[in-house]
Amino acid sequence: MTKGNFPVEKLKGIETPFYYYDTDLLKKTLKIVKEETKKYGFIQHYAIKANANRRILELIATEGFGADCVSGNEVNAAITAGFPASKIVFAGVGKTDKEINMALDLNIFCFNVESMPELAVINELAAKKGKTAQIALRINPDVDAHTHEYITTGLNENKFGLSMAHLDNVIDVLKLLKNVNLIGLHFHIGSQIEDINIFEPLCKRVNELQDLFEKREVKIEHINVGGGLGIDYDAPDSHPVSDFQGYFELFHKNLKVRDGQIVHFELGRAIVAQCGALVTKTTYVKQGESKTFVIVDAGMTDLIRPALYQAYHKVENISSNLPMKKYDVVGPICESSDVFVKDYELNETQRGDMLVLRSAGAYGEIMASQYNCRELPKPYFSDKI
Ligand code: LLP
Repeated sequence: MTKGNFPVEKLKGIETPFYYYDTDLLKKTLKIVKEETKKYGFIQHYAIKANANRRILELIATEGFGADCVSGNEVNAAITAGFPASKIVFAGVGKTDKEINMALDLNIFCFNVESMPELAVINELAAKKGKTAQIALRINPDVDAHTHEYITTGLNENKFGLSMAHLDNVIDVLKLLKNVNLIGLHFHIGSQIEDINIFEPLCKRVNELQDLFEKREVKIEHINVGGGLGIDYDAPDSHPVSDFQGYFELFHKNLKVRDGQIVHFELGRAIVAQCGALVTKTTYVKQGESKTFVIVDAGMTDLIRPALYQAYHKVENISSNLPMKKYDVVGPICESSDVFVKDYELNETQRGDMLVLRSAGAYGEIMASQYNCRELPKPYFSDKI
């Protein structure tokens, strides 16, 4: 039996909970991104933070994409999976000396610098090695991403990036620093942005800031507009691939790209979210006062998004075709927030039934923890089971 895209018989034999990745969908998504970026000469650096599973990284690296990293270990994971150092960008508000030194030794493409003190430290560490680090300034553009407050990054109140008010000063300082070479500007306004028009004000801001740098006679070769394109959590089967065409076209239309300038992107979620599902089994069906609870063997330790961001992941019972009934689907963790969905229609569910939490390929496996001394969920791939 298969239900949707899930080979139920094959999955039955695997110990739950586990992540199941549809590699065909990932490959299809990558192909579309490649085609759409190629149209405009755009460069896509996959945001490793969304999913750093070795096989997923290898599949993405094979397609020639770059990598966007936010820690030394992410840089290592990217290199190990086959991303060339010359295609790695490294962001993060708290890069340590150890991480900076490592990235300098690897000659990564670019450090996305988020503060003045960081700029000074990169300059100093590069000088000690007799090197010049290529850097981009991550600028906080004060553009509202209209998404969950925990995944909004581009407002003045957020910790990310350099404030626009300080840019003149940064340019003055940069002129004095011998071991950093400014090659670009970097932006990222937030994640799970469902309405692509929200990126328009970002483009407008980038255009304005380009004017400022031009006035100060600073040449900018690279513009990196970050990631953030959302996915359809409600209807993953109707929209398995995000609107990459509209997204890249919007930047092409709205950004005033200067001669020879290259535009970079750092999409994470939209690349990997829909290809992944968390597969779990029903341990108990428990009758409460007014509710029926489906208690599954996956919990917030395996997929924290519902507990942390009140995020919705579609749940399906792939073992049952019985009529629909209403349940709360909850995990076994000793936390009241360990709830996946409430008052939710599922095919009538019994102990042992397999449930899938859809659209879990991004910020799922990578955010798993061992709280309650649980084991980490293992990954399985559609072409290797
Ligand atoms: N570039 C930078 C600088 C970022 O901070 C992020 C995500 C990305 C790119 C990739 O964004 P994406 O294309 O995936 O939206 N754990 C949260 C999402 C946190 C996103 C953090 N930064 C979640 O599960 O919704």
